[in-house]
Amino acid sequence: MSGIEFFSYNKYLSYMKRLTYISKFARSLTKREVGNIGNISQTNNSREGITGILLSCNGIFFQILEGEEDSIDRLYEKILQDDRHNQILCLKSELNVTERSFPQWSMEVISLDENNDILMQPIKILLQTLGESQTILASYTQLGVLQAIENGINPLTLTPRYTEKIIFFADIISFTSITEKLEVAEVVDLLNQFFTICTKAISARGGEVTKFIGDCVMAYFNGDQADNALQASLDILSDLEILRHQAPANSPLRVLYIGIGLSKGTVLEGNIGSQTKKEYTVIGDAVNVASRIEALTRQLNRFLVFSAAVREGLSDRWRPERLGDFKAKGKDAIVEVYSIDDLLTFQKSDFQKLKLEIKQHLELISTPTPELV
Ligand SMILES: Cc1cc2nc3c(=O)[nH]c(=O)nc-3n(C[C@H](O)[C@H](O)[C@H](O)COP(=O)(O)O)c2cc1C
Repeated sequence: MSGIEFFSYNKYLSYMKRLTYISKFARSLTKREVGNIGNISQTNNSREGITGILLSCNGIFFQILEGEEDSIDRLYEKILQDDRHNQILCLKSELNVTERSFPQWSMEVISLDENNDILMQPIKILLQTLGESQTILASYTQLGVLQAIENGINPLTLTPRYTEKIIFFADIISFTSITEKLEVAEVVDLLNQFFTICTKAISARGGEVTKFIGDCVMAYFNGDQADNALQASLDILSDLEILRHQAPANSPLRVLYIGIGLSKGTVLEGNIGSQTKKEYTVIGDAVNVASRIEALTRQLNRFLVFSAAVREGLSDRWRPERLGDFKAKGKDAIVEVYSIDDLLTFQKSDFQKLKLEIKQHLELISTPTPELV
């Protein structure tokens, strides 16, 4: 027991906030370390008029915090930054709470690991299951949506809006040949390597991967992040170059090449989908332009191309190169296309030769189809 009484709070506070979340230990924590969290919590919370409970069980924290809205928000900010735990999932954020559920506890810490009470078993199983579900959901959910949930925002309540975005589109060159020549597991491995490199580079520069469409990655950056979008694209090209060089001679990764297209424009950002499946994504002409511009990488013998609007947002540190005006496939309008004067963006030979190199490598390494008897 915390020993600190809060019977009087309900009388004075009219509306409060209650937050419920689970998280995972970032590393194994001793009983003493968890106890320390409890001690500091009790001291701070009694000062701030916060009450609640903190359960720990098999590497999982489950906490309920209640108190005045600003105090809860301030505390939760601190808790989110705490490196003793991670994978924080806000299960519930309640406003206009009139009554505390734990008025007598400034923060009651209960470790369920040492508790063998049969009545506690279902709670232990519940927490364990919640932790597992969280891991599964996190691998299917895009980062921005997860972050909203982590911050106690229900992403379904985010209203759609028009915003300026830079759209990133990338896909694998000769992917059809790859699927024809390789075993399923090899195709999946190649795709996963490509998606991992893209996701890491894009998130590191503040962008958001919104979907994988076949062998395609679609992402977006805020309209004023042209430098970041370009840098992330170069990081991806550089990581792929390293991957190709480090891969064994008989690996398909030796011929993993991609094209990247960037465009900028006003898009509709929000939850789009059906009752049962939604995506937090962007739609609009800039998205189509990005994918069409990306297709021009083949024609222009460059791995990275972008529109004039992206170019306009770049700082002076880049040397953009105007490649010309092009009619993008399926569009009437002419697009002014640029690339950057950086070795990473150049296809060393022309595109047809690159395609042939990929095809020959795949033929060399693929297992021959057994002869029909
Ligand atoms: C799972 C978990 C729960 C926590 N709960 C609280 C809490 O209820 N109150 C609190 O003040 N700190 C809590 N902390 C600790 C804060 O993250 C932070 O370390 C602490 O508030 C810093 O206190 P100080 O500003 O007095 O140094 C918690 C940390 C973890 C990992």
